[in-house]
Amino acid sequence: MKKTMKTLIQNARVVTPHGMADVSVLLDDERIAEIDPAIHTRADQTIDAAGLHLLPGVVDDQVHFREPGLTHKEDLQHASRACAKGGVTTFLEMPNTNPATITAQRLAEKLALAAKSSLVNYGFYIGATPHNVEELKKARRTPGIKIFIGSSTGDLLVDEQEALERIFAQTTLPITAHCEDEATVRRNAEKYAGVSDVAVHSKIRDHAAALIATRRAIDLAFRHQHRFHVLHVSTGGEAEILADHRDLITAEVCLHHLFFNIDAYATLGTRVQMNPSLKTAADNARLWQALQDGHIQVIATDHAPHTLEEKSRPYPRSPSGLPAVENSLALLLNEVHLGRCTLEQVVRWMCDAPARVWDLIGKGRIEKGYDADLVLVDLEKEHHILDEQQETKCRWSPWNGRTLKGSPVRTWVMGNEVFRNGRFDESIKGREATFDHTRGGYWKTQ
Ligand code: DOR
Repeated sequence: MKKTMKTLIQNARVVTPHGMADVSVLLDDERIAEIDPAIHTRADQTIDAAGLHLLPGVVDDQVHFREPGLTHKEDLQHASRACAKGGVTTFLEMPNTNPATITAQRLAEKLALAAKSSLVNYGFYIGATPHNVEELKKARRTPGIKIFIGSSTGDLLVDEQEALERIFAQTTLPITAHCEDEATVRRNAEKYAGVSDVAVHSKIRDHAAALIATRRAIDLAFRHQHRFHVLHVSTGGEAEILADHRDLITAEVCLHHLFFNIDAYATLGTRVQMNPSLKTAADNARLWQALQDGHIQVIATDHAPHTLEEKSRPYPRSPSGLPAVENSLALLLNEVHLGRCTLEQVVRWMCDAPARVWDLIGKGRIEKGYDADLVLVDLEKEHHILDEQQETKCRWSPWNGRTLKGSPVRTWVMGNEVFRNGRFDESIKGREATFDHTRGGYWKTQ
């Protein structure tokens, strides 16, 4: 019989969405066995975490890890190292790889690739096309269905009303979407054809494009009473309509739409070209407020690497997207120091909420019986984000040169310590995330 390994993490301050407590946590193999165990509890390994905070591992519900097919930009091995370093213990990856993940067979193939090379836990969305509703109906082993209602990197697009109605009517998995109105974007692109200043990207993919598509998707969800998660909300206008969720709608905001706005083009150029585009400082403020008000529940990265060489092509030939997965938690810890939010809120937005939105089993909390996916953070430790030190294969960050206060220092995936103070244990492999969609998502759980 396999011998289980008991680990006792002592003296850390344990953070939940509801508060903090100075308690020990006992891990038994891959699970959290006990919170505040009896004083003489024996373990194979005892970790003194005095002065540090213990958080559930981050669940990033929107990443693009480019494997298969686009591995010159990123691959599962580099990206999952970046996750481990950043305190992300579970990622949910998008279907716009090459080939795209649009059948149960392709989904199984991607899961097999990740089983071989991912250091952290993984799950993969199945992508919608105008013609694959039968595949979407039979898909299992997935958080849900991704629809590109507006086109972005890759050729996945479903914007005909009939096809969208069919998907919302006939499928049962939760649906999520990239919401930018294709017709609006095309019209604007014609208007600004020939302009090579990347700042025009925000005029092409404008406020109206985001608002029209998000309204359209929410209307579909309400009419078909279908669970729906809005990806990367970028405008205050969308945040306003999300206040009326009627227990069916959840939403995500990405770090770049909180931290950057159109002023950033002047210094960062195409590094901050992404879809949906950057909006204004007023939108930044309204998105933060929507998080505070609970109208947006999740923070994710939309980690979407491209090489710097690709990024240096003149606009509009430069691709959209930026890497972020290894800095997301640290960026939020820094905001805690700045007084923008609390550590409890960071845990709610980055761990608890995404796990509940996607019905993840055993994730997002430090509670007895949950998976031992954990990150220990040193709130006082300062570090610099530097391109050349990034683990992502594309080796750059839009936050290059920034100094942050607060760093993830140790990360456990299913009870195994995969990252410790700059070193990785590459022998550790993550597991396939599992989903119980009968739970009914965020609004049906607490
Ligand atoms: O900027 C983006 N890049 N937005 C997306 O939705 C896709 C992503 C990518 O895959 O490059």
